[in-house]
Amino acid sequence: MSSLTERELQAYWMPFTSNRQFKQHPRLVVGADRMHFTLDDGRQLMDGIAGLWCCNAGHNCPKLVQAIQKQVSELDYSPAFQMGHPKQFELAQRLAAMMPGGLNRVFFTNSGSESCETALKIAIAYHRVKGDGHRTRLIGREKGYHGVNFGGMSVGGMPANRKMFGSMMSGVDHLRHTHGIPGNLFSRGQPEHGAEYADDLLRLCELHDPSTIAAVIVEPLAGSAGVILPPKGYLQRLRQHCTKHGILLIFDEVITGFGRLGTPFASELFGVEPDLVTTAKAITNGVIPMGAVFAQDFIHDAFMHGPENAVELFHGYTFSGNPMACAAALATLDIFEEEGLLTRAAELSDYWQDAVHSLANLPLVKDVRNMGLIAGIELQPMVDEPTKRAFSVFLQAFEAGLLIRTTGDTLALSPPLIIKTVDIDFAFDTLYEIIKNLD
Ligand SMILES: Cc1ncc(COP(=O)(O)O)c(C=O)c1O
Repeated sequence: MSSLTERELQAYWMPFTSNRQFKQHPRLVVGADRMHFTLDDGRQLMDGIAGLWCCNAGHNCPKLVQAIQKQVSELDYSPAFQMGHPKQFELAQRLAAMMPGGLNRVFFTNSGSESCETALKIAIAYHRVKGDGHRTRLIGREKGYHGVNFGGMSVGGMPANRKMFGSMMSGVDHLRHTHGIPGNLFSRGQPEHGAEYADDLLRLCELHDPSTIAAVIVEPLAGSAGVILPPKGYLQRLRQHCTKHGILLIFDEVITGFGRLGTPFASELFGVEPDLVTTAKAITNGVIPMGAVFAQDFIHDAFMHGPENAVELFHGYTFSGNPMACAAALATLDIFEEEGLLTRAAELSDYWQDAVHSLANLPLVKDVRNMGLIAGIELQPMVDEPTKRAFSVFLQAFEAGLLIRTTGDTLALSPPLIIKTVDIDFAFDTLYEIIKNLD
């Protein structure tokens, strides 16, 4: 029985949640420590998804807790506009040093959604300040997820996230997605086939003319739509087409940033340098809301003209770079460094891969995909009842002490990067038993 009253349960309209199901059977966490949550009935739940792909260093790291406590007692808030505090600058510089090439300018936001809006706006405004104001079109990709605000939703390509919300932004088009390309099933790491799907941008260039296109935004690896891995060569080819046609390339690294794939950022892993990069989530280990957009020097510099007392970019948030978030992010970067977490996924990925693929031969498993410390297990949907089978696995895993996520009929795992092999065994043994007995 839940400790909440019926009125409390009903008052809260929960995000991306089956509210009625939840309120009949609430799943409440009251504590957390490194790899585990504590439930309100005292049971332990292993966190197989790092909160929501954000607690990369695990939960309740003492150093992070102390940094936040210290910050709130020293400087609780400082105005984000026309004022600064030292930690914003220190953090921006440390982050920029982690990024490849000229991605040296950092703009702070409060979430992944806000990072995406910010990057899209900067892209359009960049072309305008360059005197190329007809480049306003934005290209996303089918099955893409760039948060829930109007810009990100419009360039996003998840039908359920779009269909309720009207006609969205105009001047948007989408590349074809790269899911389900023949020959790519059960691939270990990056799939072999589909680099040519990047040429879909050429189709859109032909349709709209490149001179109207401001930017292309893609996730290097799409998590929310069910762990869709980039085919070998795909991202490189997209980069080439963007460069050739003067289109900015935005990587949405909200989940791939901060070590998820075994390098600090996916851009480094794939050897592709985008023009803008969006991040959030693990930047503060998920503890205080924060996001950051990285921009190439040339983009930033294009704005630095006109009278010196003029605001160069009319964009920002009350909480952009707020002291609590900066303190949390700085402590998080320290922890990542001290514990070697930004490359730990690379060390564990072979073990992880074997564990993930131990599910491959089970009946009802349609596909299994993995990269870094990410796994997607796609199940055969039930006839006429999509999503139900995966949700039943989610509920059974929860009862067995494991938290996973589902999207459609795909199960997704993305654990804290501190995970040990014994935890990996627990996660996949648990899933094996559940999936084996599905009907
Ligand atoms: C790639 C990507 N972009 C943007 C977002 C949105 O982030 P937020 O929920 O912090 O707004 C997410 C969230 O999962 C994401 O995976």
